[in-house]
Formats: sequence, C-alpha cells, structure tokens
Amino acid sequence: MTGCVNSISPPPVTLYWYRASPSRSSFSLSGDAVHSLYRHRRVSRSSSIIAPKFQIVAAEKSEPLKIMISGAPASGKGTQCELITHKYGLVHISAGDLLRAEIASGSENGRRAKEHMEKGQLVPDEIVVMMVKGRLSQTDSEQKGWLLDGYPRSASQATALKGFGFQPDLFIVLEVPEEILIERVVGRRLDPVTGKIYHLKYSPPETEEIAVRLTQRFDDTEEKAKLRLKTHNQNVSDVLSMYDDITIKIEGNRSKEEVFAQIDSSLSELLQERNTAPSSLLS
Ligand code: AP5
Repeated sequence: MTGCVNSISPPPVTLYWYRASPSRSSFSLSGDAVHSLYRHRRVSRSSSIIAPKFQIVAAEKSEPLKIMISGAPASGKGTQCELITHKYGLVHISAGDLLRAEIASGSENGRRAKEHMEKGQLVPDEIVVMMVKGRLSQTDSEQKGWLLDGYPRSASQATALKGFGFQPDLFIVLEVPEEILIERVVGRRLDPVTGKIYHLKYSPPETEEIAVRLTQRFDDTEEKAKLRLKTHNQNVSDVLSMYDDITIKIEGNRSKEEVFAQIDSSLSELLQERNTAPSSLLS
C-alpha cells in the first residue's frame, strides 16, 4: 500500500476562503478536484495560492476509511471486525448479520434468504444488494467510515457496489486452510447479549454466566459449512480479480491477535499516507 499522490486518489482537503470580513467559511474539495485544479493551472504545485480570493491554509480533513473484509466461512472475518471497529471506530456492516436480522423480522425477504442460507448458497442479489446499499448510505456509515464484511461475494455484487459509487480503500482477504475452517465453524458460539463471537476451544467464554447463554447459528453444522465453503470457492476468484490493486492477503491461521496486528499495521499505514499526502501534494 505504498504509493505517491499521483498513483492514488488523494484525500480531500479543506480550503478556507478568506473574505474581507474576519469571519471565514470553508468548503471541502475532493482529491480529484485538486488534481483538476492542477491540470487547469488554477493552482501551482509550488504555491498555496489558487486565486486571489482563495488560499489553502490547511489540509486537514480526510475521508473516513472504507474497508472490505473477505474470506471463507469461519476464516475470522467477524472476529477481526470486532477488533478493527474497536480501534478505528468504523461502522461494521456484515451482510450475514443483515440477512439474519431480516430472517428474525419475519419478512418475506427473510424467509427467502433463509432458504438459500440453509443450503449454503448465496442469497439472490435482489435481496442482498439493496440491503447493503441501504446500510452503507446511512449517516453513521458516511461519517465514521465503514467496514464491509462478507460483501461482495460475486462479480455482480461488486459491480453493483461500484455502480452505487462505493469505492473501498482496502480489501482485506483472510486466508485459512480448509481443514481448520470446519473445526472453527462447529465450535463457534455467539453471545446474544453482547454479540461477541466465541469458540469453545480457541476463544472460550470468560464466565459460566456467559457460557450458559451462548447460542449456535443454524448454519454452523459441518454439513452446511462444507456447502458454504463450496459456494465461496466458486465465487472468490471473480471478486478478487475486481480489487487486485487494493487487496492485502493475510494469513489467518494464527492467533486472532497476530492476525489483527497485521491488519492494524496496514490500516495505520493507509492513514499515515492520507495524512502526509496533502502536504506533499501542496509542496
Ligand atoms: P456470514 O454470516 O457472512 O457467514 P460466513 O461468510 O460463512 O462467515 P462466518 O460468519 O461463518 O465466519 P467469519 O469469517 O465471520 O468467522 P468468525 O470470526 O465468526 O454469511 C452466512 C450466509 O449468509 C452465507 O452462507 C450466505 O448464504 C449468506 N450471505 C452472506 N453474505 C452474502 C452475500 N454478500 N451475498 C449473498 N449471500 C450472502 O470466526 C469463526 C470461529 O472461529 C469463531 O468461533 C471464532 O472464535 C474462531 N476464530 C476466529 N479467528 C480465530 C483465530 N485466529 N484462531 C482461532 N479461532 C478463531
């Protein structure tokens, strides 16, 4: 994820517009617009003056992070999302959780979704795509940034996402050997009170009180996990090929802390590049 300001879309900067009066107003200019200004020679790279009325005095506002995470069933997406959101404050949007909420609501879409999920198949696009778009468009996602988990899972979903104008900064892919995945699925338990993910062997509940209330997902059997894995393997290369330039592959068969350390380092690097890009852009 290294690059210079010409090879990546630079983050937006805030320009302060000084008027004759002491009050000042500000507006945000996207990185593309900054490039456009350079191209049209309204601003020189060696000068902070754009036009007599405008002066760049700070490059201080950047877009929130937009991250996608992908991987086979039980590769650790949800576990890493807990850690990432805790540190970076992004809005976690899990396609699987949205679908389970739809099932719980008793809607017709939920009923149809469950039929597919029980067979380990992808839920049809006409249900998933608008559901995810709706959540990405909510104010908290726009303001805090988002962490999209388990979407897109097909080329058509990736194309739809792009068509709606959602462009991720980074695509994290967790890689775990298949023989490990089944054991993880079967041992997974969820805490309905906190939403925390546990594993009976690798990440057991802290107290007996939590242990007795843990639940298991309806698709967390060995048989269903194998079907989900087959579906994943059929689609994964199509999705990967669409995000080649922003993909980082992470070895997920390590402790969750080690996996997170690598993700954390990539995200920190990305943020650091954003913070330094505007000043190099303007110098
Ligand atoms: P979804 O809910 O997304 O399920 P999934 O992709 O199968 O992934 P999981 O939630 O099972 O696993 P995870 O990677 O989050 O692992 P976790 O962190 O929990 O989707 C369910 C279904 O919905 C799909 O099959 C499909 O039908 C439908 N669907 C979803 N998205 C869709 C879409 N975009 N389009 C169409 N249909 C869609 O970890 C698993 C276990 O391992 C836990 O017990 C955890 O404690 C343990 N663990 C995690 N990390 C480690 C580690 N490093 N070491 C040891 N144990 C670990």
